[in-house]
Amino acid sequence: MGGAILRGLIKSGTCRPEDLVCTAKSEATFNKIREYDAHIRVSSSNMAAAAEADIIILAVKPWLVAEVVEEIRPGLDFGRQIIVSVAAGIALNDLIQLVGAPLPLFRVIPNTAVEALCGVTFIAQYGATEEQTEQVMHLFSTLGYALVVDEKLISAGTALASCGIAFAMRYIRAAMEGGVELGFRPEEAARIVEHTVKGAATLLLESGVHPEAEIDKVTTAGGITIKGLNAMEKAGFTTAVIDGLKAANV
Ligand SMILES: NC(=O)c1ccc[n+]([C@@H]2O[C@H](COP(=O)([O-])OP(=O)(O)OC[C@H]3O[C@@H](n4cnc5c(N)ncnc54)[C@H](OP(=O)(O)O)[C@@H]3O)[C@@H](O)[C@H]2O)c1
Repeated sequence: MGGAILRGLIKSGTCRPEDLVCTAKSEATFNKIREYDAHIRVSSSNMAAAAEADIIILAVKPWLVAEVVEEIRPGLDFGRQIIVSVAAGIALNDLIQLVGAPLPLFRVIPNTAVEALCGVTFIAQYGATEEQTEQVMHLFSTLGYALVVDEKLISAGTALASCGIAFAMRYIRAAMEGGVELGFRPEEAARIVEHTVKGAATLLLESGVHPEAEIDKVTTAGGITIKGLNAMEKAGFTTAVIDGLKAANV
């Protein structure tokens, strides 16, 4: 996720590579970062990297957040810096306890599509000014769609947009398999379905209409689309999607 954010920030032109400092554990990851862009600075010291940053993004596994905060805490500048955690399941209250100082804190949940600059990012904050919230909003808006939410909606947002990537992929995979059964080669079926799904999302994003309005346009009375839709609903399509989202909202 840290890598996806990094590449997104550079690709979108939001940050210059030389303005970013990345930390990691392994030489392999440092090499990957250098290969991606030699101007990105790398450091094995969280403390040193954090001390010079205006915005500190914590993108380690949730169980490592405490350890990393412990490392960087002595060098934090409360008047200047903000901390953004992308660790799933680490609540703002946990961060407040860990940081133990009046620093603006952000709990941010991006999905993996930030790398393609069409991600969805939920942002919840504690102790931040409007300007600081705008700053974080701006950062993640350049990586796709970002919205500020109350923290209690973070798990629902994670189900809808982060797990949602996997759920959408399952629809795509299912449609590809169906396409092959209908006579297309697997690669052809893959491209057709990918573009169809992209087209459907683009139609909605551009028009702002309800999906049913677009469905009505392609559904003739007694025609094949309604036969297909009804067969999918008979197999529990809508219920399966809603049940999946509810199961993922923990
Ligand atoms: N994947 C998602 O869709 C998603 C979505 C939202 C939020 N998140 C959150 O993003 C966080 C990262 O997840 P991930 O899947 O990207 O994990 P990951 O692939 O394991 O990446 C974690 C990175 O942290 C580095 N690291 C480990 N210990 C470190 C330390 N002490 N100091 C500095 N760097 C350290 C690792 O470096 P090395 O490579 O050198 O080991 C690695 O590059 C998690 O908290 C997760 O909950 C993920």
